[in-house]
Amino acid sequence: MSDDLIAVKPAVAAGTHVDAARHAAMTAEAIADPNGFWRREAGRIAWMTTPTQIKDVDFTGDVHIRWYADGVLNASVSCLDRHLATRGDQVAIIWEGDDPASDAKITYRELHARVCRLANALRAQGVKKGDRVTIYLPMIVEAAVAMLACARVGAVHSIVFGGFSPDSLATRIQESESTILLTADEGRRGGRKVALKANADEALKSCPTITSVIVARNTGGAVEMQDGRDYWWSDVCDSQPAECMPEPMNAEDPLFILYTSGSTGKPKGVLHTTGGYMVWASYTHELVFDYRPGEVYWCTADVGWVTGHTYIVYGPLANGATTLMFEGVPNYPDVGRFWQVVDKHKVNIFYTAPTAIRSLMREGEAPVRKHSRASLRILGSVGEPINPEAWLWYYRVVGDERCPVVDTWWQTETGGILISPLPGAVAQKPGSATLPLPGVLPALVDGEGKLMEGAAEGNLVLLDAWPGMMRTVYGDHARFVQTYFSTFPGMYFTGDGARRDADGYYWITGRVDDVINVAGHRMGTAEIESALVAHTKVAEAAVVGMPHDIKGQGIYAYVTLKTGIEPTDALKKELIAWVRKEIGPIATPDAIQWAPGLPKTRSGKIMRRILRKIAANEVDGIGDTSTLADPTVVTDLVDNRVG
Ligand code: WT7
Repeated sequence: MSDDLIAVKPAVAAGTHVDAARHAAMTAEAIADPNGFWRREAGRIAWMTTPTQIKDVDFTGDVHIRWYADGVLNASVSCLDRHLATRGDQVAIIWEGDDPASDAKITYRELHARVCRLANALRAQGVKKGDRVTIYLPMIVEAAVAMLACARVGAVHSIVFGGFSPDSLATRIQESESTILLTADEGRRGGRKVALKANADEALKSCPTITSVIVARNTGGAVEMQDGRDYWWSDVCDSQPAECMPEPMNAEDPLFILYTSGSTGKPKGVLHTTGGYMVWASYTHELVFDYRPGEVYWCTADVGWVTGHTYIVYGPLANGATTLMFEGVPNYPDVGRFWQVVDKHKVNIFYTAPTAIRSLMREGEAPVRKHSRASLRILGSVGEPINPEAWLWYYRVVGDERCPVVDTWWQTETGGILISPLPGAVAQKPGSATLPLPGVLPALVDGEGKLMEGAAEGNLVLLDAWPGMMRTVYGDHARFVQTYFSTFPGMYFTGDGARRDADGYYWITGRVDDVINVAGHRMGTAEIESALVAHTKVAEAAVVGMPHDIKGQGIYAYVTLKTGIEPTDALKKELIAWVRKEIGPIATPDAIQWAPGLPKTRSGKIMRRILRKIAANEVDGIGDTSTLADPTVVTDLVDNRVG
């Protein structure tokens, strides 16, 4: 059933940017003449100096990735200035508050003025091209204004998701050596307040590089303002002119850093540059969502994740779209909220995560059917594999079998979508991300790095570069080369496994490294382990993912206590609260199992394969344990499995 093709409907193909013939032609052209192809696509953004050099990439040795290297531009000009003459009074951002009674509409002209004011204020604070600015904001218009104002003055923004703890915020500020922090008094989510400024105050105790904090007044909640360091947003912006000279940036100058989790150590600063990223954001937003002028487009992500960067702000605004920014959550005030908002703002394109779809599916069809959803034309999914049941529910119930579903596979590192159906060109299969975009060259390799042909299952790699890919790990190019180009030399390794069927369609099977994906949030098991062992009562910890109906994966932690410490339910609660405080609520363990010992090889390496099997309750599949230093620990763990 899930292998059944769902053909492109004539109504969808009519007027599409890319039909099947064009898809084939573009795919062929991008391979035959990448320089010609990407020179033409560069024309979709605004340049101060048009690039003559297009692609300059080497995936071997020290690895370098350069696109449009002699081009000069400013990302904010592509998103704002160039639209003023043609669509200055068109709504750029529809903001929908957590509270259904609050919303706002900002035109391109208004957004331009707000960005220029903040950009001038940043310059007045001494911010120069190349300086890092950390953004810790809720989903309010200021978040988009902050990103674009940084881009305008050439500052490199580093957004930290508002759900992260003071500690996580502090590490990211320290790593990026940011001089300015942009935040708000409080955020709102599902009727609750998030104490952003208080968290920031806590973080800043260990962040000496920060010289000023600019605070947006959002809820009006009481906060402490430190004299000489903290300023209200309106105080620094209101007196500034509504025009600001954009900083000329080389195509390869950094646009932003975004920290993401890997399989080892602390989060990596994924660095994206200006020219290639902007081309990719515009190209993929237009093709994958088949965006048509005048349409209302809504991506439900948070700007704290890469999806919010590329598909709430840079892609849609580069394409002159009306982009909806949602402060709230899918189930507040009730589980019909998404569809109520779709009807209220006549949303045409809707892009969300499988975890949200699964949690709404559980509530049945009635809350969906209650709303018309007649405006919807395209549905998108992102963040984790979508199971065929959830895909079909999305397609049938939400889209009334009228709207194609684009399952978009990509990563923070890739800058934008790489594998996805184009709605007017590619027949869909529920659960498959289908085919690469024109210009993207995925492949599967076996454990030895040998290319696999035809229908196969293996490690997902990319054989060549695309303009939007990351350029380096901020401040650590050796880690970049080591993480992505050393497993399979000469290829970019995604960390994902995938199957390719006889039609050449890709089915992503999930991470093959020690990264887990919990409700679409990416986490390194090593980070959670180090949070656990930082607790005084914990001797050792091992964390794995376990199957979870709604979240895709849950967090399962095996904890060995220090000698003499009593394993109690109260202590489990204490450890859960501890991890939430150390990393943030997204890292809350779903299960903790007391482990007198962990399954280790004689050289001391924890065999996670075994721990994953136990967590998944697949104890028959544990396999050979004879290489363990003490095979009896497995019996104990199986007998005392949680859940
Ligand atoms: C990892 C990247 C993509 C932006 C948001 C997450 C998983 C993402 C899909 C999909 C199957 C997916 C992969 C990937 N993933 N989209 N459509 N189907 N898996 O970005 O936090 O960098 O996570 O998310 O495992 O490697 P991220």
